[in-house]
Amino acid sequence: MPRYFALLPAAGVGARMAAGFPKQYLEIAGRPMLWHALHAFERHSRIERVYVVLSPEDGHWDGQDWTSLTKLRALRCGGATRAESVLNGLEAMADEVDGEDWVLVHDAARPCLSRGLLDKLLREASEDGVGGILAAPVADTLKREGEGRRIAQTVPREGLWGAQTPQMFRHALLRRALEHAGTGVTDEASAVEALGLSPLLVEGDIGNLKVTFPRDLELAAWLLTRAEA
Ligand code: C5P
Repeated sequence: MPRYFALLPAAGVGARMAAGFPKQYLEIAGRPMLWHALHAFERHSRIERVYVVLSPEDGHWDGQDWTSLTKLRALRCGGATRAESVLNGLEAMADEVDGEDWVLVHDAARPCLSRGLLDKLLREASEDGVGGILAAPVADTLKREGEGRRIAQTVPREGLWGAQTPQMFRHALLRRALEHAGTGVTDEASAVEALGLSPLLVEGDIGNLKVTFPRDLELAAWLLTRAEA
């Protein structure tokens, strides 16, 4: 039976947050944002182990208390891009996983992943030959920016989804896809797509938000506090 592993790339600097230090260490609801993202997998019985990819220069990890996360393994092999960090992580964990095992890649900046959504992804993607990702149908009308911040074009939103994480693929397939795609891809699914495969869209919701700008912090804290109540 294939097993399930989580891999969280957390080697980014989070420039858009302008916090002065990597955003994954910002405190939300009394813990670093990264702790919440890791905990969503720690608490799920089907997840065997949780790997986090850190920058080799990360000076914040050691100062925090991670002892409540018993499935955790820290890998100091972050790269220059997200794709490079993920590929380095896949290589570092290769001795401990089988090529057919599932890897769930999740942003350190998504601390509000609910148990229900993780269950749904595990259920639906593991029945799929390729794998799948959480995603949400686009609700807004989309505009392409032209010169002088004027609207150049309205993009039809029919059939458009916003990709989220976790993105779940078998270890060997994902490694091959990222080796083939190079370091420029911004998610795992696009690397798999470049092999000519079509990952499954598993409908998530906006509660699984990506904390990017300072204003997102309060919303994330509210979502986490509400989930615990
Ligand atoms: O910057 P962005 O929010 O798109 O990053 C998505 C995820 O990828 C974050 O968890 C970030 O820490 C991670 N990342 C990484 N290595 C990089 C850049 C981003 O692990 N070089």
